[in-house]
Amino acid sequence: MTTEKTVKNPQTLSELFNLAKENLKAKGLERQVPSASNYQASSQLQRKLLDAIFMESRYLEPVAPDTGLTLFGVKMKTPTFCTALSKPGHLSDEEMVDLVRGMGKSGSMMILGIGGSELLQSAIDTGAPVVKMVKPYRTTDLIYEKVNDAAKRGCVAVGMDIDHFYGGFRDGSGRQTDTYAPKKTDEIRQAISATKLPFIIKGILSIEDAKKAVEMGASAVMVSNHGWGAFDFGVPSIVALPKVAKAVGGQVTVLADSGFRTGNDVFKALALGAKGVGFATSIVMAASAGGAEGIEQFIGFITAELKRTMAICGCPDLSAIDRSLLVASPEVREWW
Ligand SMILES: Cc1cc2nc3c(=O)[nH]c(=O)nc-3n(C[C@H](O)[C@H](O)[C@H](O)COP(=O)(O)O)c2cc1C
Repeated sequence: MTTEKTVKNPQTLSELFNLAKENLKAKGLERQVPSASNYQASSQLQRKLLDAIFMESRYLEPVAPDTGLTLFGVKMKTPTFCTALSKPGHLSDEEMVDLVRGMGKSGSMMILGIGGSELLQSAIDTGAPVVKMVKPYRTTDLIYEKVNDAAKRGCVAVGMDIDHFYGGFRDGSGRQTDTYAPKKTDEIRQAISATKLPFIIKGILSIEDAKKAVEMGASAVMVSNHGWGAFDFGVPSIVALPKVAKAVGGQVTVLADSGFRTGNDVFKALALGAKGVGFATSIVMAASAGGAEGIEQFIGFITAELKRTMAICGCPDLSAIDRSLLVASPEVREWW
């Protein structure tokens, strides 16, 4: 990414992120340096592989691309959403709600992570479509409680990040095994059948888990390695995505997150079988740059790039984006 001069009204992603860094610095916060136990190997390979996938142009099939879709019954203007997010420490409750408002104003969707009913209600009150991602709590009753609360308050879907049963893991510490636990398929199946809401299983990186998610009755799977939050050497999602989509894409909605950064990254993920692509770190940066407005700018940049590439590739709508438009270097093809 080129270094661009910081301006108050960002015109590009780089300018937006530079502004975020400046604002964070003013609060005494530097971007976190990877710790000894987090090599970021997955995200580095994810970037390398995404950068080795190219798109074929179809200039002679002029189209006016439409980036709209319906997800969990909600009409969205973009296949980009805020993936599961607990409130980052440097944002106040109000700033977090403002972030959600920005997602709604962008015609997108918000997935909320850890947080109580009050935050959930404030998020829903912004008018944005909200999904509640519930942790794999050791106490199963707490899972039911959170799922029922989400349904009662008007969430459009719920889910569970099955990969977070150790809690966060940094520098060899941070296990929270008293709070979280790996969940058995029977427990998750019962939680899924106890709600009418669509249920997303987040943290899918293998065909095996994807098939189990379908068997348990999930409506959607999210291909994700949780960024660098759960597992240093999780399979990069761009490697897992095509396999998972091929195995279960006909039965459930396939979503993806972890290491997608641009509109072209979204295009590539959609071509490899995702229906929607989630962003967390970038959304936090966008909120740090300018609250709801920063979010709108971010989603705007991502969606504009996606739209431009759709036009170049002759795709009138999202369903026209498929693998035949991708040209990948031999190294990348080997992973599939
Ligand atoms: C501040 C922050 C909070 C997060 N909270 C949650 C959470 O509560 N539940 C969850 O499943 N994932 C959570 N994640 C992980 C994201 O959903 C996502 O999987 C990960 O950050 C990778 O996406 P990214 O590369 O766009 O950041 C969080 C990520 C960040 C940065």
